[in-house]
This record gives sequence, C-alpha cells and structure tokens, in this order.
Amino acid sequence: MSIEKVQIFDTTLRDGEQVPGCKLNTAQKLVIAERLDALGVDVIEAGFPISSPGDFHSVNEIAKIVKNATVCGLTRAVKKDIEVAAEALKHAKKPRIHTGIGTSDSHILHKFKSNRDEILERAVKAVAYAKTFVDDVEFYAEDAGRTDNEFLALICSEVIKAGATVLNIPDTTGYCLPEQYGAKIKYLRDHVTDIDKAILSCHCHNDLGLATANSISGVINGARQIECTINGIGERAGNTSLEEVVMIMRQHPDLNLDTNINSKLLYSTSRLVSESMGMPVQPNKAIVGSNAFAHSSGIHQDGVIKNRETYEIIDPEEVGVIESAIVLTARSGRAALAYRAKRIGYELTKLELDKVYEEFLNFADKKKEVVDEDIHQIMEIHKIEHKA
Ligand code: KIV
Ligand code: ZN
Repeated sequence: MSIEKVQIFDTTLRDGEQVPGCKLNTAQKLVIAERLDALGVDVIEAGFPISSPGDFHSVNEIAKIVKNATVCGLTRAVKKDIEVAAEALKHAKKPRIHTGIGTSDSHILHKFKSNRDEILERAVKAVAYAKTFVDDVEFYAEDAGRTDNEFLALICSEVIKAGATVLNIPDTTGYCLPEQYGAKIKYLRDHVTDIDKAILSCHCHNDLGLATANSISGVINGARQIECTINGIGERAGNTSLEEVVMIMRQHPDLNLDTNINSKLLYSTSRLVSESMGMPVQPNKAIVGSNAFAHSSGIHQDGVIKNRETYEIIDPEEVGVIESAIVLTARSGRAALAYRAKRIGYELTKLELDKVYEEFLNFADKKKEVVDEDIHQIMEIHKIEHKA
C-alpha cells in the first residue's frame, strides 16, 4: 500500500498566538514563518488580517517571504474580512483564504441569534466571495465537534459547490472523544456530495487532553490535513501539537500516512517558539520536553546504556535532540555512574566503581541531581586519575 500524504497546516502564528501573554511582533513572526517553511509545513496560517493593523502587516510581510508553503489568512464569513485578507495575502506565492462560521446549534442560537438556513446561506456566500480573490479557499465549520452531522454534511456539500478546496472540521471546544471525532470524519466522507473535490481537515483543541488523539483518529478516518501548533500552544489548553502528530505517523508506518516535515528541525523549532513567546515547554512534554529523552531511574538507565531501544521508541537525533540524557540521581545505579564518569574522562575498575558509588549516593541524597562537577569532586576524594 502506498503512503498517503497528510498536509500539515501550522497555526502557531494565528490560533497559537491567541494565548494571553504570547503576543509576537512582526519581526519575531517573520523568523518563525521562515523556520516553519524550512521545517516543511504545507500551510502557514499567518494571522487574522482584519483583527488589527499589526496583524494585517504581519500577514502581508509573511506572504512576501515564504518560499514554499501556502500562506493563509483567517476571516469570519464577512465580506470586509475577506477583502482585507485578500489584500494582506496579495504577495503570497500560494495564498489561501480561511473563512467560516459557527455551525453548532449553540453557536447558531446564542452567538448569531440565527437559524440553520441563514447560516448555510452565509457560509456559501463567504466561500463564493473568497473564491473571487483566490483559488484556494478553506471553509471552517466552527464548533463542528458539537454540530449535528446531517447539517454539517449539508453545509460541507454546499460550500464545495461554491468552490471550497478544504473543509476544516474544528473540535473548537475540545469536547469529542477520538472515536466520535473519527466517526464524524467518516460520516462526512460518506455523506458529503463531491467530497473528493476537497480535503477534510482536523482542527482539534486540547481541553480534555485529546487533541492529538482526535487528530490521529481523523486522519485514520480519511482526513488529509491536520491543523496544529508548535508545542501545542493555543487557546485555553491549546491546539494539537505539531511534533506529536508528525512523530506518531512516522513511528507507525502501518498507518501508511506521512508528512513533509523535516523532523530533525522539531526540537530547535520548539525552542524558537517557546523563547519568542516566553512560553516554557513543560519538561514532560512528548517529543520536545527536556525530559522526553532523559532517564533517571537505575533500571531504565541500565537498559538504555545497554541498548537505547529498551526504553526509547524514537531516536532523539530524529527530532534534533543530540542524545539521550542519563540523569544522575539517588535512584541511579553503578552502570549510570560509570557511563557518565567515562564520558568526562574516568575509566573505573570494578573496585573503584564500588568505592566511588558509596560516595556518589551520599552526594545524591543531598541533591536533586548529581552533575559533572560533583563527579569530579567524588573522583578527587578517591584519587581516581583523570584520563582526558
Ligand atoms: O477552533 C476553531 O474553531 C478555530 C476556527 C476559527 C478555525 O480556530
Ligand atoms: Zn482553533
């Protein structure tokens, strides 16, 4: 079976930047956009051009410099929004307008004080209007996760007729279970008229910690684009994390799905976004957290030293991390101490190791982590010769 491509739509600069305190200036956005382009994302959602003159300017500048990726701007299903987005994107090699409207009953009744017929009409008009400016028009059905499937299929069929090339099915509130989200995508594949004229896209939020699982369930059920952010940043509990979905597809070749991402740039891109936004990455974050390839318990350390694959499913180099870390703590064994000591220039005999290990435990009991400086001290106490 041939491998099918899943497009990566990065929304770090739009949905990600909505996080309080993460505001970026245009210069910072340009650096990130260039990095995303080098990383191999297919689409960069550069911003929401009507939202402010600053956002318009950033989208406009990003559109000028991006070489490979499609550059996308968000709009509501409002004429003025669409005109402003088209203007902001006018220099893009591959421009996309991302327009849409809330489709769940909750959005229709409370946000728009409207009804399904009117929402359907507004959606179709917005897509048709966007299509007068660009060929590539993505439609989002906001709160699709809680939208009735029959109405969702109808609105998707109608916007395809109006020219939509991508159908974004957001689980805006992060409500769905993976089975439900996957079933929704399958329902749309089975019930939307001319579905082969458009790509179904997953856009999942992480309110229940299910954004990654839902996106993977979406692509297993036929979606071919995932909307995500670096480090999973985004509104409330965040969006689907780009590095997670990319590495899940890579680690499971049985899915027959892959992306264009150069995974060796994942770690440095994560750090770039974290530093630019002042948003630390939690140490236990999958793929890019500082502990993602760190081993501290004796049993695990012994296993990894003998064979990395005992406790690691990903080669750290694959995601741009130089090597696995053997962290020395009071739970570390002799193998870990000998390994770290060797790396900084001490070849220990069995006897010497037994001797310094007792000393090491004394140090470790007093500290969270024993560092190289401590090892040098321990060796000095026991007069072990430095070979380097
Ligand atoms: O979560 C969401 O529904 C969105 C849309 C505006 C695409 O971000
Ligand atoms: Zn979103």
